[in-house]
Amino acid sequence: MSVLKNKRILITAGPTREAIDPVRYISNHSSGKMGYAIAEAFLKQGAKVVLVSGPVNIQLQHPNLKLIPVTSAFEMYVACNFHFMETDIAIFAAAVADYKPEIVAEKKIKKAGDEILIKLVKNPDIAFEFGKIKRDNQLSIGFALETNDELINAESKLRCKNFDMIVLNSMNDAYATFEYDTNKVTIIQKDLVSKEFPVKNKTEVAVDIIKEIASIIMQRQFYSSQVIDTSF
Ligand code: C5P
Repeated sequence: MSVLKNKRILITAGPTREAIDPVRYISNHSSGKMGYAIAEAFLKQGAKVVLVSGPVNIQLQHPNLKLIPVTSAFEMYVACNFHFMETDIAIFAAAVADYKPEIVAEKKIKKAGDEILIKLVKNPDIAFEFGKIKRDNQLSIGFALETNDELINAESKLRCKNFDMIVLNSMNDAYATFEYDTNKVTIIQKDLVSKEFPVKNKTEVAVDIIKEIASIIMQRQFYSSQVIDTSF
């Protein structure tokens, strides 16, 4: 996949943590394995990867890898903002918390009474924000983890966030999602053509994903080479 050589890739991976107080937070079960597998697959093709990662238990080192560890969704957004303009392909694989506590208590919240109310406010939708400013020569790829109406929900995210391709995982598939080393995905292109893949190791799924990306780039190159010069 020589079209990926020297391409500048931005990947978000892992969960985010939204602080409640100095010792507690809201988060999710994301392991970051899929995002890291995609980073490795791109690195093997000679691409340059910026990996903006929430807290995970994975080590990855490579001369062409810039790893930016972050904790919250806001930090992830700021780090991506710094790199998005110089990115050719952005992969939004992180499980970003949609909401965060409005107020972070300065000190550990003490046990008192039977109830405690925490008001949550919206986090930035990183993929959506970059979808608004994406240039024609940039690609953005998203993920959708769905429990029901999988294809309909994934297609609506593809349109809403201006993705060029979305990778759908269903919570109803065995051995897929979260901590598993395996995944079962359906890849949906912008023209809504979808391709369903069998259960595979996340390393193999990453290769399937980057092959689809390489084929989008090759198609674009083909069509731009077909433009007839009428300027004579
Ligand atoms: O959470 P949701 O299903 O909307 O996620 C769809 C896509 O949007 C994923 O690719 C995810 O990484 C991205 N996303 C994001 N920032 C958010 C929420 C989701 O980049 N705050």
